[in-house]
Order: sequence, then C-alpha cells, then structure tokens
Amino acid sequence: MTADWTQGYVTETLYTDGFFRELSPAWLNYVAALKGCLPIPLDRPFTYLELGCGLGRSATVFAGAFPQARFIGVDFNPAHIALARRYAEAIGVDNISFLERGFADLQSSELPECDFIVLHGVYTWVNATARAEIRRIIRENLKPGGLVYVSYNSLPGWAAASPLRKLMVEIAADTHGDRAEAVGPALDLMEELNGVNFAYLKTNPSTAQTLKTLKARGKNYLAHEFLNSEWKLFYSVDIADEMADAKLTYLGSATLAENHVEYLVDKGTAEKINTQRSPRLRQLLLDYAINQRFRRDVFVRGHQRLDGIEREVALGAIPLGSLIPESQFTAKAKVGNREVTFAEKLFPLIKDAVKERPRTIADLRRICSAAADRPANVDHLLATLTAAGHLTPFARLSSADGNRLASVNKSVLDLAVATKSRQQMISALAGTGIAVDAVEAILYEAYLAGAKTAKALEKRLLQRLHEVGLSLSKRGQPTKTVEEQQAIAGEIVVRFLAEKSAILAQLG
Ligand SMILES: C[S@@+](CC[C@H](N)C(=O)[O-])C[C@H]1O[C@@H](n2cnc3c(N)ncnc32)[C@H](O)[C@@H]1O
Repeated sequence: MTADWTQGYVTETLYTDGFFRELSPAWLNYVAALKGCLPIPLDRPFTYLELGCGLGRSATVFAGAFPQARFIGVDFNPAHIALARRYAEAIGVDNISFLERGFADLQSSELPECDFIVLHGVYTWVNATARAEIRRIIRENLKPGGLVYVSYNSLPGWAAASPLRKLMVEIAADTHGDRAEAVGPALDLMEELNGVNFAYLKTNPSTAQTLKTLKARGKNYLAHEFLNSEWKLFYSVDIADEMADAKLTYLGSATLAENHVEYLVDKGTAEKINTQRSPRLRQLLLDYAINQRFRRDVFVRGHQRLDGIEREVALGAIPLGSLIPESQFTAKAKVGNREVTFAEKLFPLIKDAVKERPRTIADLRRICSAAADRPANVDHLLATLTAAGHLTPFARLSSADGNRLASVNKSVLDLAVATKSRQQMISALAGTGIAVDAVEAILYEAYLAGAKTAKALEKRLLQRLHEVGLSLSKRGQPTKTVEEQQAIAGEIVVRFLAEKSAILAQLG
C-alpha cells in the first residue's frame, strides 16, 4: 500500500546516494558559454535549487564548494530529507537547506529567485501533474538568464526495451510484499524468461542484453527506475516544448560529447543532420542517429544569443583544469563514439599548461596562439578535450578557502573509512567533488598528516585497514596471506603517489 502523497512514486525504498558532476554550477556555466549564453557569475552569491534531490549528495558537495552561495534541496520523501540533512551536518556544510515538500506543495514564496534549478532522474518518473508543478516552480522561481538542468529517459532509444518495464511492473504486482521486495523475484523471473523462446526478445537482441545487465544495477535503483506508477518516455523536442511553458530555451547537453555531432555519427550522417534548417529537427535526427536513451538537457530562461566577440569573451573567462592523472591525459582518446587523436602541435602545450593549475580558455588560447593555424582550432580542441574528460570546467583559478574545506574534507575522509563507502572530497577550485573510496581515504588522510613516502604510506595503510576491519582484494578475489596484502598495498601506494597526490596538490 502506498499513501496518497506519493502520487504513485516509490517511497518504500530509499534511493541510492549518487553524485552527479554534470549538476555542478561550473559545468552548467560551461555549457551555457559554449552555446552563446552568459554564464552565472560564480564568485558572488547565487542560488541553486535541486528538485527531487534524493539523498542530497550532489547539492551538498556543490554547497561545500561554493560557500557564498545558497543551496536548497527539495524532496517529498521524509527519509531522503532526513538522510540528506544528516549527511550535510556530518561533513560540516551549512549553506544548504532541505525542504520536505511535494512539488505541488512547494509555494514560490518559500523559495528565493534561483540562478540554477536542476532535476536529475525525476522528470520522466513522475506523473503529468508533478511535471506541471515542476514547470510552475521553474516559471515562478528561476531568474531571467537562469539555467536549468533536466535529465530524462528518451525516445527512440527506449522504444525497443520499454516492454521490459511493463513486464517488471506486472510481475512485481503479482508478487507479495512491497514494491522493493518485489524487485528481486521480478528480476529472477525475467531472467528465466530470457531463456525461453520469446519472439520479442529474439527480434530485439539489444533488449535481451539490457535484461541481462539489469541485475547489476541494485534493487533500490531498479525500484525507482521502473516501479513508479508513471514511467513516461519523451522525445527531446517534446521536452523542449514542455519547458517552453516555463519560458525556457534549449541550450545544449550536459553530456558534453553530445554537443559535437561529428564525434557521434559518421560523416554522411552528420552532413544530413547539419543541413536540416531547424535546430529542432537537427536535434531529433541526432537522437535517431544515436538511438538516444538518456538525455541531460540544459535550458536557459532568456537566450541572450551572444554574438561572435561576446561569446568569445564569455567562453574565454571559463577556467578549465584537469582532474585525471597525467598518465591518462593521452594524445588519443574516446570522444562520444569516436577515437580522436588530438592536434599534434597544440596538445602538448595545453597538457603542460593545465598540469599544475587551471587556466582560463582565454589564457589557453594565448598559450596556443603561435602554434595554431587558426584561433578557432584552439577552441575546437579545448571543447574536444573537455568532451573527452581530459579537461573539466572549473569554478575558479585560485581558492583561499583552504582551512574551511580542509575540515570538511577531513570529515568526508572519515566518513569514507567509517562507512567503507565511496564519498566525494570537495574542491572549491574545481567546484565539484572528487570520488574517494575507503582505501584512498586512508591514503589521503595519511598523506595530509605528513606520510609522503611509499614506505610510510604503505605502513599506515596496512595498519588502518587492520583497525577498521578492511582487507584488500585482487581483481575481486580476497587475499589469503599477509605477504599478498603487503604486495597489493605496495601497488596501491605506488599508483596513489604517481597519480592522486599530484591531483591533490593541484586542488590545494
Ligand atoms: C530517481 S530519484 C533521483 C534523486 C536524485 N536527484 C539523484 O539523482 O540521486 C527521484 C527523486 O524524486 C523524488 N520525488 C518524486 N516525486 C516527487 C514529488 N512529487 N515531489 C517531490 N519529490 C519527488 C523522489 O522521492 C526521489 O528522491
């Protein structure tokens, strides 16, 4: 049985505690500038609202990274709100508040005017009434020039597999217990059905494949993904139409590679798409070309459509940095669906420039100017490197926030070790979170406490692992002897010193 306030949404099971970097103000600003819109100034107070914030991880991490801004998370599930509040308190982030409200109950007078409104994994999982309320909140509370992020399940990518969801709902309804309890038996039966002769699965081999991967996703995720009474699939153009209701215009994708048709499809297909007159049709054709299944759209309220020089200045002010180990900053990488080799002359200049600190795009243009045939080539390369994940849109060029964040991050590391789980260290410079698991957390703690040599780190790692009852495994297999533990600890420490300590230094 579910109560009325749930509107058919799963509330018996808690959602997972994911962190999503695409929701960062810095990331959204980059998409805005890339698409000819003014970014929101991040060095002064701004307001950020997350609708359907779940356990509040993403918003809390960003609140930690932008202490001068105000963050608000809204969710109608009291268990989610209680856990979100507890998490923010545990790591000492106090510029975020969480409201336990259904979208329909959220009065605009309760909220400030917002610069950012984001919703991840919400829009296509709630009913039409809740979607209309979301648009009302955006219409009433987003500032002119404000940015919106909305992610959703899309068509045509889900077309073939959507009957799987129907099957799961029906099997779950036929099973005793609540919806969360029903996920396990439903998956078991579906797996068995995969083995019998269903023409549906035979004619849709990719769907049979999807079915096989479902089990790995975890019951809580699957309950929220599939078992709500509403599960609506959208074409991107229809989402754009609905968002127009809230005075929004589509800007681009927070899945950065998806802003570059050339990296998604072959040349002929790209040409066909690019020669279509309206952006709307180009967008739809691209969805068909890549069989788009999940979109992360960024909208603006009032598209300023900056002209050439204005756009150059707005984009030029965006800082880019690197959050990957130097060894992974390779001259060849996957971008979208392509293997791309980066421009030979410019690549080393950029790699070198961001090695120790972030640089603005304008700065990187300057650094490359002598070696570039055309200035546009530098911008294109920077966008490609960012889409590849080699570069990340940062929040700032320098941060004087060291002491406050050191204490927050100490709590994050303690939490990772105590709960033996993945957490996010917070960087004010990058304006985002850096994933850390329990073993890395022990190493970071030891490193920050002064253990900088391999020997000292290894000793501390083994000692702490013993204290907290953790043991290392090799390729998923538990270690059997002390010598094996030591050998793996040694490898982990070498990797940490080679890769992670440099990132730590760059992030201050
Ligand atoms: C799939 S979860 C996504 C949570 C979070 N955004 C994330 O990605 O981790 C959807 C969230 O929306 C909340 N939600 C669903 N319907 C809602 C409504 N009508 N009002 C407020 N929150 C709602 C749920 O409780 C849930 O936490």
